[in-house]
Amino acid sequence: MEFSMIFTVCSALLLLSSSSANARTASPPLLSPTPAPAPAPDFVNLTDLLTVAGPFHTFLSYLQSTKVIDTFQNQANNTEEGVTIFVPKDGAFSAQKKPSLSNLTEDQLKSLILFHGLPHYYSLAEFRNLSLQNPIPTFAGGQYSLNFTDVSGTIHIGSGWTNTKVSSSVHSSDPVAVYQVDKILLPEAIFGTDVPPTPAPAPAPDIAPAADAPSVVSDGKAAPSSEPKPSSSHRIINWGILIHIVLAISGGFLF
Ligand SMILES: *[C@@H]1O[C@H](CO)[C@@H](O)[C@H](O)[C@H]1NC(C)=O
Ligand SMILES: *[C@@H]1O[C@H](CO)[C@@H](O)[C@H](O)[C@H]1NC(C)=O
Ligand SMILES: *[C@@H]1O[C@H](CO)[C@@H](O)[C@H](O)[C@H]1NC(C)=O
Ligand SMILES: *[C@@H]1O[C@H](CO)[C@@H](O)[C@H](O)[C@H]1NC(C)=O
Ligand SMILES: *[C@@H]1O[C@H](CO)[C@@H](O)[C@H](O)[C@H]1NC(C)=O
Repeated sequence: MEFSMIFTVCSALLLLSSSSANARTASPPLLSPTPAPAPAPDFVNLTDLLTVAGPFHTFLSYLQSTKVIDTFQNQANNTEEGVTIFVPKDGAFSAQKKPSLSNLTEDQLKSLILFHGLPHYYSLAEFRNLSLQNPIPTFAGGQYSLNFTDVSGTIHIGSGWTNTKVSSSVHSSDPVAVYQVDKILLPEAIFGTDVPPTPAPAPAPDIAPAADAPSVVSDGKAAPSSEPKPSSSHRIINWGILIHIVLAISGGFLF
């Protein structure tokens, strides 16, 4: 009796598994059209991204004039490694006085732009580990390297000439990371190791952005704080109505 039960269960299972196997063998013609549109969402159009975010127009025009955009886009499109790009805002370019970018040769300018990319996708969390491997080579090649340090969650970038930080994440989804930086990254390989001795005023710019930050935060707080007021008074009114209803109902039950 028990044996026949087991037999029926087993044959039922076999039937099920064979029918699901049939379904599986039957499915490929159905599945094959789906992988074709799948790679489409993977493609990140860097030109599009940098046009919309920012403003990064100056960096984007340098990317285009030096054709480095093709190098980065190709790395984003066609490699497992992916790409990480540091983009200074337009303001960083207008603030850049010394050294000037105006008399760089075409090759130097190309190297400068390549210096803003790493041939690997790094999430923000991965920079913590990266600091142990300093200096990190960039797209511009061997001598063009960057140092990363994580200071309580903020990623600082050092190039000798430039000490800046990642101020926001524009896009971070494997294989493409685009991070906004406060300054143009200036390589010693172009501007020399004779970095102007400014380690004393260096802490000042560190304090300046920190002073900026809370004002942004307080601005951000100011706007929403005015909104919760009406909503909380609505809530009070609603509670008032609710209490009336509850009282009315309980009153109805009582009398
Ligand atoms: C990327 O975006 C730019 C700007 O919108 C557009 O001109 C270009 O054709 C796009 N490239 C691809 C490959 O889709
Ligand atoms: C990147 O991929 C897009 C979409 O497949 C393609 O149109 C574009 O030409 C590719 N660009 C490069 C540089 O590989
Ligand atoms: C650029 O030109 C200025 C003067 O016009 C000069 O002092 C400076 O060294 C030049 N920089 C480079 C990288 O050639
Ligand atoms: C950092 O390194 C540690 C130890 O090597 C590892 O366990 C951890 O997963 C790494 N974190 C990231 C974000 O790569
Ligand atoms: C980068 O870090 C390495 C290793 O800690 C150090 O030797 C080098 O001087 C640093 N370079 C810059 C430009 O800060």
